[in-house]
Amino acid sequence: MKGVLLAGGYGTRLRPLTYITNKHLLPVYDTPMIEYGLQALYAAGIKDICVVLGGAKPEDVIKYLGNGYKYGVNLSYKWQGEPKGIAHAISCTKDFVKGEAFVVHLADNIFPNGIADFLKDFEQSDFDARILLVEVENPEGYGVAEINKDVLIGLEEKPRKPKSNLVITGIYCLKPSVFDVIEQLNPSWRGELEITETIHKMVTSEKHNVEYRVLQGRWFDCGTFDSILETGLFIKERMRGR
Ligand code: DAU
Repeated sequence: MKGVLLAGGYGTRLRPLTYITNKHLLPVYDTPMIEYGLQALYAAGIKDICVVLGGAKPEDVIKYLGNGYKYGVNLSYKWQGEPKGIAHAISCTKDFVKGEAFVVHLADNIFPNGIADFLKDFEQSDFDARILLVEVENPEGYGVAEINKDVLIGLEEKPRKPKSNLVITGIYCLKPSVFDVIEQLNPSWRGELEITETIHKMVTSEKHNVEYRVLQGRWFDCGTFDSILETGLFIKERMRGR
């Protein structure tokens, strides 16, 4: 399985710090944000990884991560340019993926317990996509799942009236069939090609199979100053001391 780490965008919610460097190099306690994702991929056995860049200060990421040698992985880069959405960023990796199953990890997400369990057996499975859900108190800020009797029936990005408290985390196992679905997308109300809409289309079409898992442990989305602070404290108190 190949790995894709998405690090495009301007990081507008983290200005003025993102005027200085790329959002994904900002520190989460003692480590640049993007390294958590890179290490999680490495620990799950993913060694061939493509980093998608665009937006603000992409050159800083290349300068810091290099060819991946110091992390034991083989890194390559793709240029997204303007942040036209997560699904658009994924479509930039078609040449890199070359027909294999792959895992997409948002570079602002942190999974303290790793991602190996989530990836297990996906490649050999009949599923086109596998998503990881988690229960939160404020689902409006995320992609939200609609589930009926344990069956996933739809997904909606940042809905005003969420249909559940189960939101999509920033890790997606995908097969190359996803690229055809992305090609049919139109930009959302926020002008982006949405991964949530992509998976929703797969869930509601007879041509695709989508599987979901529910995360029992912790998960962090480091998109705001408050979440970076909360994540940093968790890492300091629960992970570094051990
Ligand atoms: O963190 C989980 C959430 O991530 C999901 O629940 C949502 O369904 C999903 O849309 C996403 O929501 P955000 O609003 O938090 O996404 P954001 O625009 O902050 O982008 C997250 C990361 O994805 C960002 O750090 C870099 C990458 N990205 C994003 C965009 C829009 C790209 O590489 N290119 C892009 O064009």
